[in-house]
Amino acid sequence: MTVGAPRDDRHQFYGALRRLLFLVPPERSHELVFAALRGATLAAPARRQLSRRLAPTDPVLASTVFGARFPGPLGLAAGFDKDGLGLKAWGALGFGYAEIGTVTAHPQPGNPAPRLFRLPADRALLNRLGFNNHGAAALAAKLARHSPDVPIGVNIGKTKATPPEDAADDYRASARLVGPLATYLVVNVSSPNTPGLRDLQAVESLRGILSAVLAETSAPVLVKIAPDLADPDVDDIADLAAELGLAGIVATNTTVSRDGLRTPGVDGLGSGGISGPPLAHRAAEVLRRLYGRVGDRLTLISVGGIETVDDAWDRITAGASLLQGYTGFIYGGGLWAKHIHDGLAVRLRDGGFASLTEAVGSAAAKP
Ligand SMILES: Cc1cc2nc3c(=O)[nH]c(=O)nc-3n(C[C@H](O)[C@H](O)[C@H](O)COP(=O)(O)O)c2cc1C
Repeated sequence: MTVGAPRDDRHQFYGALRRLLFLVPPERSHELVFAALRGATLAAPARRQLSRRLAPTDPVLASTVFGARFPGPLGLAAGFDKDGLGLKAWGALGFGYAEIGTVTAHPQPGNPAPRLFRLPADRALLNRLGFNNHGAAALAAKLARHSPDVPIGVNIGKTKATPPEDAADDYRASARLVGPLATYLVVNVSSPNTPGLRDLQAVESLRGILSAVLAETSAPVLVKIAPDLADPDVDDIADLAAELGLAGIVATNTTVSRDGLRTPGVDGLGSGGISGPPLAHRAAEVLRRLYGRVGDRLTLISVGGIETVDDAWDRITAGASLLQGYTGFIYGGGLWAKHIHDGLAVRLRDGGFASLTEAVGSAAAKP
């Protein structure tokens, strides 16, 4: 039995498939699944069929954010499709949008393997991929050829070889390439897998980076933050984002904390960020803090440990206009996004909300 997904025959099928896939090393199985998803959505008729079954069509789930129409609030989180190889797949698989990347100004191979691990007893993942990607220019070329059926955000990070003092120029170079082609742009300063990256969250560094990116692009700009920040640092970044006129904040990235993990042998796996349910409590806490502080001025995207309809509803009513998931998709399978969207539609109607936007922040003290 699994948590957070429909309990029907098709789900049992994914349970069996997942057991098979989990026999294959994680990064290889990611490549296999990704190739299969791309294959299944390559031809327009197949895409239409899938979309008819999985894409959110209930108008109560739709909202307009960053000037674009999002058919449903749940998107694919950054890191799954780093290079935009599946641009046509995500809408057909039931996601309301996708965040592509992280891409960096220069292509880079990432860290040596093994660098991705499953923690099955925690329904979690540990990764230290280190921004393996083909670079912002390659993604820009892909985006330019693509006519999206759902909004596409792009997440940019710092090239590993770029020294911290040149970080602003590195982010600026990526923003110049992908900004004009993205529904929104995320400045990622929160991956634990690029040495020194998270130090860029210090307000003095962040101000320079965000100002450079804002000057370079007219796309809505958001910043993605770590769950491991102390509360006063969360507040400082929120204030800076509001002061600079950012469009929003994505909270949160993976955590370096190993607290509460049940999977045996985690300590032997080495460094990296944990995603999935162990992150849920802190991700929700950071969301609440942000909403209380800047919820009236910034759009909040909540990500981290969203697995069930309850999780998703909790984040919407706590102040998130949009949601994202990565690990929930790995453990929940191809029907996961649909399951969450269907459940949210029921919650909205049961709660008497005429639209998703009405429900955003409805359980929170108004900011
Ligand atoms: C394998 C893997 C790779 C990731 N790569 C990125 C990345 O390139 N950029 C980024 O901003 N976040 C990345 N993330 C973090 C996710 O976008 C997300 O913030 C985090 O996993 C928490 O969400 P989840 O619990 O739904 O997985 C990655 C996560 C995983 C599991």
